[in-house]
Amino acid sequence: MPAPPDASEVAVAWKDVRKVFADGHQALGGVSLDARKGEVLAILGTSGSGKTTLLKMVNRLNDPTSGEVVVGGKPTTAWDPIALRLSMGYVIQEAGLMPHMTIEANVGLVPKLKGVDKAKRTADAHRCLNLVGLDPKLVGARFPHQLSGGQRQRVGVARALAADPDLILMDEPFGALDPITRREIQDEFRSLQRDLGKTVILVTHDLREACRMADHLALVDHGRLVQAGRPADFLERPANEFARSFFQDARAVTAIDGGANP
Ligand SMILES: Nc1ncnc2c1ncn2[C@@H]1O[C@H](COP(=O)(O)OP(=O)(O)OP(=O)(O)O)[C@@H](O)[C@H]1O
Ligand SMILES: [Mg+2]
Repeated sequence: MPAPPDASEVAVAWKDVRKVFADGHQALGGVSLDARKGEVLAILGTSGSGKTTLLKMVNRLNDPTSGEVVVGGKPTTAWDPIALRLSMGYVIQEAGLMPHMTIEANVGLVPKLKGVDKAKRTADAHRCLNLVGLDPKLVGARFPHQLSGGQRQRVGVARALAADPDLILMDEPFGALDPITRREIQDEFRSLQRDLGKTVILVTHDLREACRMADHLALVDHGRLVQAGRPADFLERPANEFARSFFQDARAVTAIDGGANP
């Protein structure tokens, strides 16, 4: 197993978190995990394994039943939930854009809530739309329904970047895209993330997406962490049969991708 990171290098730490929902369903059964500063951590697992529940603990859409999540050195329960949410980007499937607001206004929403003035909001929105490959002059005044699905997902990423957060949470952000567009956005986002030095926590059930984009992977199953490490660790030393079978086609993935990111 790799050495645990120094506390100063940790952006988010889940410490023995358990989640029992109001109906008695235990979604997480004691998970400990770190996301390091400046890295992409992908949380992988089958449907219902607890990935979204883990992610929503970071921005307090969910609080743990026991254990704690530490963000920026402080337990989430010590943060004001609104201040916590405004401090990070959040990208969800289908982008979650406000349908009645223009693209420019959607991208500028968090800066507006933070009190950023209109001129700077507009300039930042244009910069972020350009970053994700959209022409602000072309799409800025449109409404979300006037864009393609792939363009909307780019806007979702631009919105998460707009307030220049250190941390970005992404929950199946590139779902429902054709494989070519999906791969293009994954690669663009990865190089953007490297350039900007953001910490990203990416929830996905797509092993290929995780291997393309992440520095570290965390595999969850039935609310428990099966294994955390670099992609190569899973291939070379799977923790159990589930990890082995989940990763069995990873060799094929790296063969197809030329082994650039095993
Ligand atoms: N509010 C809730 N009340 C009760 N059970 C819940 C609630 N939210 C989620 N669950 C359950 O907790 C488990 C984990 O859900 P979660 O959304 O974290 O899964 P996931 O790994 O993100 O799955 P998917 O890949 O399908 O999105 C599931 O069995 C789900 O039905
Ligand atoms: Mg989910």
